[in-house]
Amino acid sequence: MPIALRLVALAALLISAASPVLAQNTYAWSLPAWLPPPPVPTDNPMSVAKVELGRRLFFDQKLSGPSYISCSSCHTPEHAFSDPRHPSIGVTGGKIRRRAPPLANVGYREALTWADPRMRTLEDQAHQPLFRADPPEMEANGHEASVVDRFEHDATYRRLFTEAFPEKGGTVDFDQIIKALAAYQRSLVSYTTPYERFRFAGEKGAMSAAALRGEKLFFDAKLGCATCHAGATFGPSARTLLPGAAPVVYANTGLYDLDGKGAYKPIDHGLRESTNRPEDMGRFRAPGLRDVAKRAPYMHDGSIASLEAVIDRYASGAPTLASALSFSPLKDPRLSGFTLSATERDDLIAFLRALDDDTFAADERHGSPFR
Ligand code: HEC
Ligand code: HEC
Repeated sequence: MPIALRLVALAALLISAASPVLAQNTYAWSLPAWLPPPPVPTDNPMSVAKVELGRRLFFDQKLSGPSYISCSSCHTPEHAFSDPRHPSIGVTGGKIRRRAPPLANVGYREALTWADPRMRTLEDQAHQPLFRADPPEMEANGHEASVVDRFEHDATYRRLFTEAFPEKGGTVDFDQIIKALAAYQRSLVSYTTPYERFRFAGEKGAMSAAALRGEKLFFDAKLGCATCHAGATFGPSARTLLPGAAPVVYANTGLYDLDGKGAYKPIDHGLRESTNRPEDMGRFRAPGLRDVAKRAPYMHDGSIASLEAVIDRYASGAPTLASALSFSPLKDPRLSGFTLSATERDDLIAFLRALDDDTFAADERHGSPFR
């Protein structure tokens, strides 16, 4: 047998010998050639079984303490896994101070949440909705045993947990729940936008002439959009992985100035809450702009109703929401304003709309298994 064939035969033999382990740890991403998969922690490898379990948990109200909201109550697939309601409402009726960010491509984000650079992994982040009080989102805390009990006494879950974590012998704990949720969220990769079809897949007609003009404006130094909304996700992304990816940007866009020194509302001081530095008052993560047209209202607190209004405000140099004539001293100096004709504004919006992935929400692999 020629050497190459012999190697193939040997590899086949090794694979079949190791198949129970391999079957657990293989996951077919089915991504286009230009897009690497998101980083995966070594202690939580992807598997089809884990993603399937995570998906069911994500859409299941049984995961909340009182058993009546799910992750998907605030991260709905039709809105790119964000929440059209503002504010989002937690399981005990409490208003959530910030908007729920979209979860498409969340696995590529280098720092999670609107303003905490220390939040690095989906596994860490899941503790917030599950266990945080003030106000509680899902209130699993204090109900840990009954939540686990619900899953252990459900035949479908018993099978799914056993397939996803065979080493645990069918017992359920929050470590597995959190790992499965993270694996499912990493599988939420979206790349079928008109922009990508045009740029990377060579589909000439995928973007309209208006969207192409808008793209030029977006990347124009005069507008400066791409200095903060950069890289393949047009926002926070894993620097090392994606073509053109940039570090996460935290910026104060001058929405509030309650005291003449740039104070934001007491309920939310942004980055300052995690760094304690006065100059970080009002700085929030520049959000990714994919699917942005699907998720009004805008900004961390939903304070701006439409894309038109977001752009008009940037054009006038980002005045405070209270008065078109007042500007916060902490506002990012890059937001100094620009002039844009009505057609140019429409073009810019046409470009932002070309960042919508309409196939993503309809993709059966991502949606609720309870339909
Ligand atoms: C009551 C509404 C609500 C529920 C329920 C909820 N979330 Fe969220 N989610 C939010 C809000 C609001 C934020 C932004 C938090 C912040 O910035 O401090 C967020 C942020 C996130 C982020 C960070 C995304 C990013 O771009 O940084 C992830 C990931 C996430 N949620 C996953 C989940 C998972 C998994 C569940 C279920 C276990 C869940 N969420 C349940 C409202 C919710
Ligand atoms: C100095 C950095 C910076 C520049 C320049 C910038 N943005 Fe932003 N942008 C941000 C930050 C930070 C936020 C979120 C602020 C908040 O919620 O308090 C934001 C929010 C947005 C939102 C709302 C998204 C959402 O999910 O709520 C849109 C849309 C947007 N920017 C588009 C643009 C466009 C278009 C341009 C160019 C005209 C631009 N931005 C320029 C930093 C910037």
